[in-house]
Amino acid sequence: MKIKTDFLIIGSGISGLSLALHLSKLIPNQKILLISKETLLESSTYYAQGGIASVWNDNDNLEKHIQDTLIAGDGLCNEIIVRRILKQAPERVRELIALGVKFTRDENGEYNLGKEGGHSVRRILHVNDQTGQSIVKTLIKNIRNLDNIEIREKWCAVNLYVKNLICYGAYVLEQETEEIHNITAKATILATGGSDKIYLYTTNPDIISGDGIAMAYRAGAMISNLEFYQFHPTCLYHPYAKSFLITEAMRGEGAILKDIKGNVFMEKYHPQKDLAPRDIVSRAIDAELKKSGDDYVYLDIASYKDSAHIKSHFPGVYEKCLEFNIDITKEPIPVVPAAHYSCGGVVAGIDGITEIKNLYVIGEAACTGLHGSNRLASNSLLEGLVGAYECASYLSKDFSSFKVKSFPEWESGSAIPSTEAVVITQNWDEIRMLMQNFVGIVRSDSRLKRALKRMNIFAEEIDYYYWNYKIEKNLVELRNLSMVAELLIRCALSRKESRGTHFNENHLDKLELARNSYIKRPW
Ligand code: FAD
Ligand code: SIN
Repeated sequence: MKIKTDFLIIGSGISGLSLALHLSKLIPNQKILLISKETLLESSTYYAQGGIASVWNDNDNLEKHIQDTLIAGDGLCNEIIVRRILKQAPERVRELIALGVKFTRDENGEYNLGKEGGHSVRRILHVNDQTGQSIVKTLIKNIRNLDNIEIREKWCAVNLYVKNLICYGAYVLEQETEEIHNITAKATILATGGSDKIYLYTTNPDIISGDGIAMAYRAGAMISNLEFYQFHPTCLYHPYAKSFLITEAMRGEGAILKDIKGNVFMEKYHPQKDLAPRDIVSRAIDAELKKSGDDYVYLDIASYKDSAHIKSHFPGVYEKCLEFNIDITKEPIPVVPAAHYSCGGVVAGIDGITEIKNLYVIGEAACTGLHGSNRLASNSLLEGLVGAYECASYLSKDFSSFKVKSFPEWESGSAIPSTEAVVITQNWDEIRMLMQNFVGIVRSDSRLKRALKRMNIFAEEIDYYYWNYKIEKNLVELRNLSMVAELLIRCALSRKESRGTHFNENHLDKLELARNSYIKRPW
């Protein structure tokens, strides 16, 4: 089917939903189509626990938030962008409150501010430990009332249509009918999140396979800093617990990391101990596990806070752990680091502008310069909010000059339905295992080179599959995931130093001159 809209938003996380809302209010006479690969609820945003960082009271100030962000980013943040984004944090948070998000307050009615690794003061607004869920539900409730927003769930973007570096829309697979639609738009906005599913162990939901980054790369956009993949230190370790995060806010409330014999260890690694920046804590746990041969370490809150405090601050974590017979009010929680956040992505301005005309990228899929080589905790929901606001402001000013052009229908050629789904699942599993073992928290030149060699073999097989078999969501995801994995390895190989979340045992020192890595499709 040929579909014509004014603005095509791909993604229903905090950035896509907020953008739709802002656009709808700023230009109510324009049509907005928002598509989501799964249901509207399913996104990384939905699972966010800790909250949103914002200067909120007199104990804090903008300069402190900026310095914490720059320190975590380890020399690679763009300070101008950092200042612009953090400065508007309180305003963007107030907008969420006006929409109906009920951030947790303490007994005297003040907002209860949490603390996470790398923050020098308490500044994180949260809805207990279910902040993301509350934000997503509130945004959706507001969007449902608006006439000019059309929503399509289980529609998966396959590719952008770009000619001479101008984007005219996208090919989108409607999963139920298996039809590929041709959606023309004045502007196409990627709000597709990160690419965590390139790793075997991750905190993200299954749909996060780097689709936006891969589509933008194929279209000719510049990609940057993919090697900076942030591992969250504390993911629940249990054979049946899939990707469940134990929020860093728990360490902010006094929880301590211990080895399985009960010894604390973070003081050996950093003066901020358990609340050091995330890259340092994850590497410390990795080092402890390699030394001891154990499968996990413990996060102990039970010894430091009473049961009522734990249950009221962390109801989501408490309930989830109970499902696995772990009572966090009485015993320590087994945890391991897991892939969590892509600090790199498609090079974009604070307003989502990319090198490709009429293509915008916001949220985790973008690389704006806010996070540098390691994101400060709880700065990501904020980046999504600011990106959406700025992008909407830009788009609403001058969209009359945008070119709209219909483009050819999708050609299925002689593609046949696949009879061997196992080829897809096998490749998927192999790539994720390879990335975990060879391109994980601690890297080396030889492991990276081995990984690249293997990725080339996967790419050939996946390419054959893509061009010869009928498109389905799993295949789209596998193709994107393998592309982003390969780009990440190439970025990692080009960095001859250890910085932020990129740690290479063959290049332990930091180079004096901090530089971003860039990668672009050769033409
Ligand atoms: P997402 O929320 O990831 O949404 C991506 C959307 O794109 C989804 O709707 C998906 O369906 C859609 N999509 C993807 N590909 C396609 C396609 N091909 N076609 C159609 N649709 C597509 N950050 C914080 O600041 N504070 C926190 O407390 C925090 N906690 C976190 C806890 C967890 C468990 C996780 C996983 C992340 C957490 N983060 C946190 C990070 C933060 O949640 C994410 O970085 C942020 O929500 C990303 O928002 P987004 O809008 O860019 O993308
Ligand atoms: C957490 O709650 O620990 C996650 C916060 C984040 O990723 O910013």
